[in-house]
Amino acid sequence: MIAQLKGAGKTYEVGSQIITALQPANLDIQEGELLLIIGPSGSGKTTLLSLLGCVIYPTDGKVYVNGQCVNDLNQRELAALRLNTIGFVFQNFNLIAPLNALENVMVPLQLQGVSHREARDRAVHALEKVGMMDRARNKPKALSGGQQQRVAIARALVTEPKMLLCDEPTASLDAGSMSVVMDELKSLAGSGKAVAVVTHDPRLMPYANKVVEVKNGMVIPINQHEDAKI
Ligand SMILES: Nc1ncnc2c1ncn2[C@@H]1O[C@H](COP(=O)(O)OP(=O)(O)O)[C@@H](O)[C@H]1O
Ligand SMILES: [Mg+2]
Repeated sequence: MIAQLKGAGKTYEVGSQIITALQPANLDIQEGELLLIIGPSGSGKTTLLSLLGCVIYPTDGKVYVNGQCVNDLNQRELAALRLNTIGFVFQNFNLIAPLNALENVMVPLQLQGVSHREARDRAVHALEKVGMMDRARNKPKALSGGQQQRVAIARALVTEPKMLLCDEPTASLDAGSMSVVMDELKSLAGSGKAVAVVTHDPRLMPYANKVVEVKNGMVIPINQHEDAKI
């Protein structure tokens, strides 16, 4: 098991108000699994992904990632766990505009202190994996949405993370690019990575091994829903 929430939840204090972003929940994600997190806007999906991704601490319960209890780690240890264990893919790709595809993919390795030459070789390999090596010298604005997202996946993969977390990765894509990206994520799960994908798009459900719905901050396993069978 790569990540586990044990009664983990998150509240924010805003002035005198307490906002429950996520109610205490139990959830785990394993290697080789594609977990889909569905639910409407504002329901707590990004909060759930941020807990799995060690971006925030839980205010209730415990979060375990790669055998470590996140609650017990300081910010610096958390940053190291993120950099070495987790890859992130976002809705808007978040590629760095002045850098070409290859340079974008090299960035996380440079943060890890890997030598330029090794970073370059590994970035080439990651771009080959997502079928984007022929566009290595292109800057993001010369690429389609689907191509940018595949570069973003290569960047998330280049550090060989055990877990890939994707927040609405297909939201900016047309149907054709969406299926290319989802096929890529599915095959990564098939190769042993843990992949979690947040979406409000029910068309992604056939790609998942496991689906949870987040509704008003509550995490609900979808197979307990009578009306949600696919
Ligand atoms: N940093 C924050 N401070 C206060 N409230 C927040 C913060 N982050 C999220 N929330 C609130 O928590 C709820 C869930 O947000 P989020 O997880 O982003 O939902 P989703 O990703 O499903 O749209 C929302 O009501 C949001 O306003
Ligand atoms: Mg969100």
